[in-house]
Amino acid sequence: MSTAIAITSGKGGTGKTSLTGGVGSCLAALGHRVLCIDMDVGLRNLDLSLGMSDRALMDFTDVLSGRTTLEKAAVAHPVIQGLHLLTAPLTEPRDVISEEGLRAFLADAKSKYDYVLMDAPAGLGLGFRLSVCGADRAIVVSTTDASALRDAQRTVSELSRTVRYLHLVVNRLQPKLLRQLHTTIDDAMDAAGLPLLGVVPEDAQVMLAANRGQPLILMARFGAARAYLNIARRLTGERVPLMPIR
Ligand SMILES: Nc1ncnc2c1ncn2[C@@H]1O[C@H](COP(=O)(O)OP(=O)(O)OP(=O)(O)O)[C@@H](O)[C@H]1O
Ligand SMILES: [Mg+2]
Repeated sequence: MSTAIAITSGKGGTGKTSLTGGVGSCLAALGHRVLCIDMDVGLRNLDLSLGMSDRALMDFTDVLSGRTTLEKAAVAHPVIQGLHLLTAPLTEPRDVISEEGLRAFLADAKSKYDYVLMDAPAGLGLGFRLSVCGADRAIVVSTTDASALRDAQRTVSELSRTVRYLHLVVNRLQPKLLRQLHTTIDDAMDAAGLPLLGVVPEDAQVMLAANRGQPLILMARFGAARAYLNIARRLTGERVPLMPIR
């Protein structure tokens, strides 16, 4: 059965786009048909994270308004089989996008892909609401900063009205820093009020890969790349233990 997953956070810059690109490429590498949708109107970046900079000409609003079809607008990854990107427009669209329209579009996307990942914008505005209105699952990405965790908590209270399954991913983990702060991953889970789907370490390769225009999984096997693979496997229902992070 196909699954639509919204990647959210509340606070900006916590790692939603990197996680969408990383987990999306891993799901495709595991043999699934994957559509990654950039829902960040005006500030799209998912193309960079997937190493598909400016390949897409049409965006999700073109599909929603009927100007084109999903088949024409979704661009296949040049290297990773089964992975497609549907990008976001660079400017606010003139058409009104309704939650109803988004849900109908998602139903069509789910009939063609095993996983539809939606990279939500920061905040709780329209882009967030559209990203989550038809999602089966939502991932809340947070760092261990108190401000990110507080925003995660706010996001969870919005999400719990619409999405059935919610998960937490703790990103940019630095165990040494956690020890200095006398805090733990359990505290982060308690603060967000969510079960843990995965922990991604602080890893400079994430930025290097995006800057080089390469998906991380084609560059690295350990660190964040391994964490994304573990998260992808857990989403498929596999039991994968948390990897040790030093
Ligand atoms: N695990 C990580 N280790 C190191 N750097 C990371 C990690 N995850 C993300 N980053 C870096 O953090 C920055 C923000 O990441 P990203 O764009 O994925 O966040 P975002 O939540 O999508 O941001 P926005 O809210 O603006 O959409 C980028 O420079 C990215 O390279
Ligand atoms: Mg982003």
